Amino acid sequence: MLPETSSPLQTVSHGRTLPAEQTLLSVRGLKKVYRTDGGDVEAVRDLTFDLGKNELTCLVGPSGSGKTTLLKCIAGLLEPTSGEVILDGKRVIAPPKKMAVVFQEYGRSLFPWLRVADNVELPLKNAGVPKAERKALVEEALANVGLADVPRSYPWQLSGGMQQRVAIARAIAYQPEVLLMDEPFAAVDAQTRADLEDLVRGVRERLGLSVLFVTHDIEESVYLGERVIMLSSSPTVVQEDLIVDLPPQRDQLETRSMQRFTELRHHVYEQIQRAKKGYRPDGPAPK
Ligand SMILES: Nc1ncnc2c1ncn2[C@@H]1O[C@H](COP(=O)(O)OP(=O)(O)OP(=O)(O)O)[C@@H](O)[C@H]1O
Ligand SMILES: [Mg+2]
Repeated sequence: MLPETSSPLQTVSHGRTLPAEQTLLSVRGLKKVYRTDGGDVEAVRDLTFDLGKNELTCLVGPSGSGKTTLLKCIAGLLEPTSGEVILDGKRVIAPPKKMAVVFQEYGRSLFPWLRVADNVELPLKNAGVPKAERKALVEEALANVGLADVPRSYPWQLSGGMQQRVAIARAIAYQPEVLLMDEPFAAVDAQTRADLEDLVRGVRERLGLSVLFVTHDIEESVYLGERVIMLSSSPTVVQEDLIVDLPPQRDQLETRSMQRFTELRHHVYEQIQRAKKGYRPDGPAPK
């Protein structure tokens, strides 16, 4: 069989902006400087990009490049030093109702003294959702992550992968338009991770969410995303924004064995290596 001929990769050396009707969330000129006793730390220098409706975007970058900082600014948990985040046309100044976050450390994010269903219900209770509606949302969310049969278990009675599914259920029960995920699968084994990846894609498709997914894992970013945003080293700018032009139906074996998958993975890997070596698109041109 002849090798497939590859088309050029669809990359731009800045964050993509989208037409207003396709945009759900915009990050504009975002900068974050931490003021510390030891001096200022410029974590994020200048980030601009849009997230599309019902789009799954992955974000990768060297350790310390400000991925968590960016997510916290988007989630309204941290105030940007300058620039802004706009969701559905409104500036984010506090945690928006239509946004949910899943962090890496599910062990610390679930309350051990609350049963699974109560953990999922808590944010709804805090938001004042009526009881009958809460019950229906919790049941639906647990069913969506394949945990319909353990609502009365405690988190510590579940495996790591199941606990992370509880955290995902809690986020989607809240009916967000945007789901932010910060290295959510870093602490689970490879098989569970593959299952959770497919779960996120499935949930996203069923519920029509936009997802921004931070990961250290280059293969995971290509497998999951429709787009991969690569960050430079700190102080951070967008190094490159890549369209993942793989078929929309992803399959752990089939997709990962495609030539295009390998090309995309190579490319992201090379870019991250460059970023680690200090290359930045806003820096001096190479000699
Ligand atoms: N609360 C804080 N006070 C001061 N500096 C901080 C604070 N939080 C993060 N930083 C600094 O900001 C930079 C970006 O940190 P951040 O945690 O956002 O990076 P990251 O890309 O998420 O890293 P990792 O890949 O290791 O999770 C780092 O230099 C970090 O030391
Ligand atoms: Mg982080």
